[in-house]
Amino acid sequence: MPKISIIGQREFEVEPGTNLLKFLQGAHYDQSLPATCGGRGSCATCAVRVLKGGGPPNAAEKDLLKGRLAKKWRLSCQMTATEDLELEVPGYESAESLEIEPELLRDILDYAAEQLPLRRVPAPQRITVRRLKEMRHRVEAIVDGGGDPQDFQILRALLSYARAHDRIKEIPSKQPFTDKTVGLMLQAFAKRVPEEQPEEEILTYPYFLYVIVTIFFFLTASLSIYALLVNAPLEQPATPSFTPNPEKAPWYFLGIQELLADSPNLGGFLTSVAIGGIILPGFFVLFLVLIPYIEPYLEFWRRDRARPPGRRLRGRPVTVALFTASILLFLFLIIIGTYFRGPQWQFVLPWQ
Ligand code: FES
Repeated sequence: MPKISIIGQREFEVEPGTNLLKFLQGAHYDQSLPATCGGRGSCATCAVRVLKGGGPPNAAEKDLLKGRLAKKWRLSCQMTATEDLELEVPGYESAESLEIEPELLRDILDYAAEQLPLRRVPAPQRITVRRLKEMRHRVEAIVDGGGDPQDFQILRALLSYARAHDRIKEIPSKQPFTDKTVGLMLQAFAKRVPEEQPEEEILTYPYFLYVIVTIFFFLTASLSIYALLVNAPLEQPATPSFTPNPEKAPWYFLGIQELLADSPNLGGFLTSVAIGGIILPGFFVLFLVLIPYIEPYLEFWRRDRARPPGRRLRGRPVTVALFTASILLFLFLIIIGTYFRGPQWQFVLPWQ
């Protein structure tokens, strides 16, 4: 007895010569097959995809289905089970065999470009109208599974967003497009998205150590040669009886020295030394330490703050701006202390 297997569903044994439409109706797989002409072969609303078996199409099928025949669509009312058949029935598709029409993708992309707030669609990459228009030109490659892997990520992001915001019904598609189809499309696209590559691991020993040791020897040799060839600009040996004016700290502490000189003396414990030398630098270091913990609050504008912001500037502009401003402020103090301070720590211009 011939077998009819409905992909992703069940397999049935049927009497030879069983009409396929009648079988599907009897087995309750006809929810998307209205068969409005009652099996007379004139409406094409009983079409299913026959992936295996079925013999050549008859005249009514050729007339009604035309180009769809190449994609294995057949009129179930015109077919009888004389051999084993493998079917995909609308409404019961599986992600593996889902047939996505290019026109449907164009409808989705057009709708997204015009109606969806693309900036708010969470996706691994930025979705722009221009990108969607480019994708529109390669929908044939996408439905054949040959598009850019990022295309599938974008389509997933758009469909997921539209589904989460109950906007699937708004997509003006010429083809039947149900919530279930969307779920299957998401599954199908997910299979085509490349898995995230794990970051390459490099062992500290020996690879990293070789680099460090090589650089160490190279720097030591270079500095030794430089020291032999060029005299250091040293001043006279220090004497307790002579204190240079101004007395400047090494450059990397000059920022603190400048801060200390600029801080007010509030009396009590809050002397200018305590404020400029301990309290303000302490707050600065504490801020740097706390950044990873307070970042979700700093990036208050992000809608999905539960997700890590990534390493790009786009994902963490407030944090990067604050950090950069802190470093620039410190550099600014160092430059002031180095070039703009003279005797008695008075403000001077470097060229005077
Ligand atoms: S039921 Fe109308 S063509 Fe098959």
